[in-house]
Amino acid sequence: MYRSHTCGELRKAHINSEVTLSGWVQKVRDKGFMVWVDLRDRYGIAQLIFDEERTPKEVLETAQRLGREFVIKVDGTVIERESKNSNIPTGEIEVLVKNITVLNKSITPPFTIENETDGGEDLRMKYRYLDIRRNPVKNSLIFRHKVGIEVRNYLSNEGFVEIETPYLIKSTPEGARDFVVPSRMNEGEFYALPQSPQTFKQLLMVGGMDKYFQIVKCFRDEDLRADRQPEFTQIDCEMAFVEQEDILNVFEGLTRHLLKEIKEIEIGGFPRMTYDEAMKKYGNDKPDIRFGMEFGELNAVAQHKDFKVFNDAELVVGIAIPGAANYTRKEIDKLIDWVKRPQIGALGMVYVKCNEDGSYKSSVDKFYDQDDLKKWAEATGAKTGDLICVLSGPTHKTRTQLSALRMEMAERLGLRNPNEFAPLWVVDFPLLEWDEETSRYHAMHHPFTSPKPEDIKLLDTDPGSVRANAYDLVLNGNEIGGGSIRIFDKDLQALMFKHLGFTEDEAKAQFGFLMDAFQYGAPPHGGLAFGFDRLVAILGGQETIRDFIAFPKNNAGRDVMIDAPSKIDNEQLDELHIKLNI
Ligand code: AMO
Repeated sequence: MYRSHTCGELRKAHINSEVTLSGWVQKVRDKGFMVWVDLRDRYGIAQLIFDEERTPKEVLETAQRLGREFVIKVDGTVIERESKNSNIPTGEIEVLVKNITVLNKSITPPFTIENETDGGEDLRMKYRYLDIRRNPVKNSLIFRHKVGIEVRNYLSNEGFVEIETPYLIKSTPEGARDFVVPSRMNEGEFYALPQSPQTFKQLLMVGGMDKYFQIVKCFRDEDLRADRQPEFTQIDCEMAFVEQEDILNVFEGLTRHLLKEIKEIEIGGFPRMTYDEAMKKYGNDKPDIRFGMEFGELNAVAQHKDFKVFNDAELVVGIAIPGAANYTRKEIDKLIDWVKRPQIGALGMVYVKCNEDGSYKSSVDKFYDQDDLKKWAEATGAKTGDLICVLSGPTHKTRTQLSALRMEMAERLGLRNPNEFAPLWVVDFPLLEWDEETSRYHAMHHPFTSPKPEDIKLLDTDPGSVRANAYDLVLNGNEIGGGSIRIFDKDLQALMFKHLGFTEDEAKAQFGFLMDAFQYGAPPHGGLAFGFDRLVAILGGQETIRDFIAFPKNNAGRDVMIDAPSKIDNEQLDELHIKLNI
């Protein structure tokens, strides 16, 4: 027997019990006549004690030779500690060891296996299995497991059936590049790994499985960020005979359930905002609404004076930063430099200090008097003590820049409280998005999203203004999930493909299977997918999903532990009929 108890479970009530424990050596303190060892397993730490008087000599000597991360098994008696440690649950007891077996030795680990480690990110990723022994990583993985169980419970209870869909498929366009897999048996042909199970779940609806879900891996070859991995997990769902409202209700229910079961938080409302409103008020389609700083458009009050920069701008827009009127000139200059960084790209920033005595001091006092600036304060909701920051330029670009400033200031001012949860539905997304690079419209969500019926007539004349039956769930400024009501009519789907620049033949080659299926009585349907990694990270109070993935990739898409991607040998290439062109 390796263990009668785990290292984390022994308490005062176990005193005088004979126990067997197995685990890893966290720390050895050797006083010669007495040795203490902290023994760790997944469940916690137990202190072992070996002493000259009560421990057999060879056992004491073995203890003295132990190194960090050795794997040992001990038999002993639980006794009360002389000096108690209130920091750990087992701090009142220790185990007086009679027998010890070294199950395995360890070479010195490259970083300390403790909550606060001396290992940098790269080292921890290379030795991820050691990182997983640390509490923060271990706890995040257990947390992820709990969220997964609650998701399955909730959706199962709502009548959803989990169905697996294939990973070796044909490309599904979701806006990113595909990862592809060469086929040995079909020379010159490739599978694509799914960017999502989108087309399969729609086919399941045609198959009559009216409530489908799957916790599923998706693969996207795109630029990576803190909230993006090349392979990530979705809670993917689809429902038949539903309208948008039905879908929003189910996923509002799921989100409430998770917040209640996992965080013990009862959430109030799930406000809704149209995409247009979100862009106007927050410059962002995933606004963090835990704090104010809403945009105030200033065209009406800032233009038609002598300030050419504003007069020439499509949009003049500002936000009030709470309590920042006392910023020094140097601090404001730094802020201006911040918005002018290439990542943000503003050309400059105008500011107004709302002084405690009710007066205003701005960087453009030459052009605006106190009455003008009062109007700016009204439009941005600025109070005395606030600093109004104003940007101007093309509408979309300027909004995006001010949104970045809003988020940065909220972060600096500590307004993004990870223990507060503010969900928001953003609805009525545009159907199409203009792509400068290819000079054509792309589906903003994906090509299967249905346009609002009343907007279909605009497809020919003003495609950019057509709204979709598409929605996103935003949580604390993060896009947690997105979905839409789908097109289920073959002709409308064909029309969409045409507007997306597919010829009839191309559409047939790529999506013929879906259009064929639609001829056999496709029901009205729609769905949504949550980003599981993102959801788990945010529920866990963080925004970096890597910390909640057992074996993540780095920002270059590499797994530095197993060293992937890597070259394959010529024989394997030949079998796959591939000649490298490098
Ligand atoms: P979408 O592309 O919006 O929709 O993806 C759904 C959610 O998945 C998460 N997500 C990611 N998470 C981590 N790393 C990534 N690279 C990544 N990409 C996306 C986001 C996102 O909201 N088939 C549709 C869903 C539908 O229409 O039903 C889809 O995949 O949280």
